[in-house]
Amino acid sequence: MISVNLKAAGEFIPESLYNEFKEKAYKALDTVLDGTGAGNDFLGWVTLPSEIDDKLIESCNEVVARWKGKVEVVVVVGIGGSYLGTKCAVEALSHSFASAMPSENPKIVYAGHNMSEDYAAELLEYLEGKNFAIVVISKSGTTTEPAIAFRLLKDYLESKFGKEIARERIVAVTDAARGALRTLATQEGYTTFVIPDNVGGRFSVLTPVGLLPIALAGFDIRKMAEGAQAMQKACAEKSDGNPAIMYAAARNVLYSLGKKIEILVNYNPKLQYLGEWWKQLYGESEGKDGKGIFPASVNFSTDLHSMGQYIQDGERTMFETNVLVKNQKHTVTIGSDAQNLDGLNFLVGKRVEEINQKAQLGTRLAHTDGGVPNLEIEMDRIDEYNMGELFYMFEIACGISGYILGVNPFDQPGVEAYKKNMFALLDKPGHEAASKEIKARLGL
Ligand code: PA5
Repeated sequence: MISVNLKAAGEFIPESLYNEFKEKAYKALDTVLDGTGAGNDFLGWVTLPSEIDDKLIESCNEVVARWKGKVEVVVVVGIGGSYLGTKCAVEALSHSFASAMPSENPKIVYAGHNMSEDYAAELLEYLEGKNFAIVVISKSGTTTEPAIAFRLLKDYLESKFGKEIARERIVAVTDAARGALRTLATQEGYTTFVIPDNVGGRFSVLTPVGLLPIALAGFDIRKMAEGAQAMQKACAEKSDGNPAIMYAAARNVLYSLGKKIEILVNYNPKLQYLGEWWKQLYGESEGKDGKGIFPASVNFSTDLHSMGQYIQDGERTMFETNVLVKNQKHTVTIGSDAQNLDGLNFLVGKRVEEINQKAQLGTRLAHTDGGVPNLEIEMDRIDEYNMGELFYMFEIACGISGYILGVNPFDQPGVEAYKKNMFALLDKPGHEAASKEIKARLGL
């Protein structure tokens, strides 16, 4: 079971203050579980793990079976919460060099998470001559980035294989009834999966938004569901060991003491996208009403050679949350060298992970000495079960944290501002007045 360790934060988290915030966290947990707080029409994710049933898993596995051996590449089209959970899980669970390794599972590539023309062109170039399929994911069904990517990819697929095969090779994950993607999917006869109404994008990894593409990548979504279910139970308890309570309380203590930036740290590059998923979850949930911890992420030891200086010595406004992995999949030991020109013979016989762990301990000490509190979240190993646990723990801790902070953690009004300007600049019908004004302001 994933555990949270606050020992390394030591004196930065005074016991009395922690107890005060723990009580606030318990209250906030009640608010989440009872559905009595702001945004309570978006709490469907709270019980999702226990609702993942055989039917859902089998429908995902049917698509896996339908495409097995026929499809070499699956393009997952989506942005924000409609893509980051998948990317996080697939990166964490895959071989580090998956894109260059032979596999019986299709390779997963992504589209619709940017509007780069070069990316679009190079994706089509990559797909040339390949048997590919598309999973298009958009809850609203109207988000510009995935809509553009899907239009390009659908045209390409149909032009290469014809409409009939394209129909077999496109699956849409969207709202049950609303939105342009739902209308299109119904009209074209695509296989579809539903994103529940009461689950927001950034909390949707345990719906078909994440489960389907993760299954297509060859991973066991049943195990992921089991991990999430175990965490759902553990996080419902009002006990000292509840990891979501500990994490939410500790980070809010630190915020109340002026630590405005939280850096999610990993020591395993497989977890790089955990940082990206987590940043969206916490940034979009908490950053509002002029409040919120700014979520950042680093990959150590890589970034110790870039961001390490700032963290050690820059403004003292941050704390780190380390996501540590107890057990590695592999063992690699350092061999001896007769000449020892690199001076590394003192490491002979040591595992690379042992050195990594010493780097972690040394960094924790140095950063703590430098005024950066360290929290630790430890997972047993990187597998489907642990990823399920981790997803759920971070989600519920996010709901709790948002309520402690006094915001609605389940809306995202701020993301609309750039869209309005962009549509006005693109002369989208309905934006005429704004268009004139914005163009004048920009001198266009
Ligand atoms: O968390 C969110 O709500 C957002 O990040 C959305 O997931 C993102 O904007 C994509 O939206 P949609 O799935 O409607 O295309």
